[in-house]
Amino acid sequence: MNTTTTVRYRPDQNNYPHPDTPRRNNMFHYYQQPGYRQAVDEEHRPDFPFVCTLEFTNHCNLKCAFCARQVMSRPLGCLDEDLLCRMMDEFAEHGAFVKVNGYGENLLHPQALDFIRRIKRTNGLYFTTNGMLIDDQAAACFVESDLDVLQVSFQGVDRESYESQRIGGSYDRLLANIDRLVGIRGDHPYPFIHLSTTILDETPEQIEAFIESAFEHGVDCVGVGRTDYDRVIAEMITEPKQKRRIDEFRSRQTLEKVPDHTYLYRYSDINWNGVVVTSFFDFNEFMPVGDMKTQTMREIWNHSPVLGAMRVLERRGVLSGVQEVLEALETLRQAGSAHNLPVFDTFYHAWKLGEKSYNT
Ligand SMILES: C[S@@+](CC[C@H](N)C(=O)[O-])C[C@H]1O[C@@H](n2cnc3c(N)ncnc32)[C@H](O)[C@@H]1O
Ligand code: SF4
Repeated sequence: MNTTTTVRYRPDQNNYPHPDTPRRNNMFHYYQQPGYRQAVDEEHRPDFPFVCTLEFTNHCNLKCAFCARQVMSRPLGCLDEDLLCRMMDEFAEHGAFVKVNGYGENLLHPQALDFIRRIKRTNGLYFTTNGMLIDDQAAACFVESDLDVLQVSFQGVDRESYESQRIGGSYDRLLANIDRLVGIRGDHPYPFIHLSTTILDETPEQIEAFIESAFEHGVDCVGVGRTDYDRVIAEMITEPKQKRRIDEFRSRQTLEKVPDHTYLYRYSDINWNGVVVTSFFDFNEFMPVGDMKTQTMREIWNHSPVLGAMRVLERRGVLSGVQEVLEALETLRQAGSAHNLPVFDTFYHAWKLGEKSYNT
């Protein structure tokens, strides 16, 4: 693929597909279906999530400065094969798209490539990686299994912004691994390679140069989002040097926070141990909504009291802001366990509904 046009960066645009890519982003097309687009409230909620997000593992080979993994204290582990197969039997029946993400590096799972092949036998798959471990074997698996979309995560726009924030990551290795994958893929239609970065205060010129250079390496699309250093809850960082580094990056943050809780009607997030959480933002299983080891997704999605309470609160417009979430967590902590209280009341008070009264 040669670059034929000069990309113009626009702050309101997140994705820059290569103008000449012959490949299709199947996940993007899946998002265009009317049912998905309409699923923004309880009335239009499907009876099974459109997207099931899996964490293969929460072990990681990097220590990224912006990642909530730094303050994650839940046990480390790897998704079990029997559990994956059981979940896939159910997801296959419903045609859910599978997204592999979570708080770790998914290619560190010893069975990662077998799991990719298993998921691809029946379902669409979007797979996220930091790219450090894409060797010949992994690249061949992505191509032969027709992996729909491979997201490779970058940071900032150049070597300096990448290596100062993706601590332990190698810029040269990342580019070499992308080149390797592009070479092995040849003219094959899959995987669609989405290079994703998030930025702080980089200039449009820097961003444009980054996108052009990514195209020259053969990626099909570049995503440019904003880095959110508030996800690393400041009160949970105690080491002074680490705190200073995070504060410096946070002072360059340009993210505008727009509340969006549509994930409650579209997505379900499953950790490596089968525990289902309300969203990707709950890095520590503060609010488990179910457990795939003992329940089905259909049961959790439609009958979890916690998820039900979250949806009611979303409808009332009180789910926004780190502060509210922290207060809710404190309430839960003081109560000893969320399960000791009527769940809805816990959330009701925690999110300070005030005097508003609504029909639920
Ligand atoms: C948590 S990582 C897990 C997968 C893999 N380890 C990786 O880095 O791609 C998934 C994605 O979340 C993004 N992410 C994590 N913390 C973020 C933050 N504070 N702000 C913006 N994006 C973040 C990462 O850049 C990455 O693209
Ligand atoms: S962003 Fe990904 S690679 Fe970086 S620490 Fe978090 S999970 Fe690991």
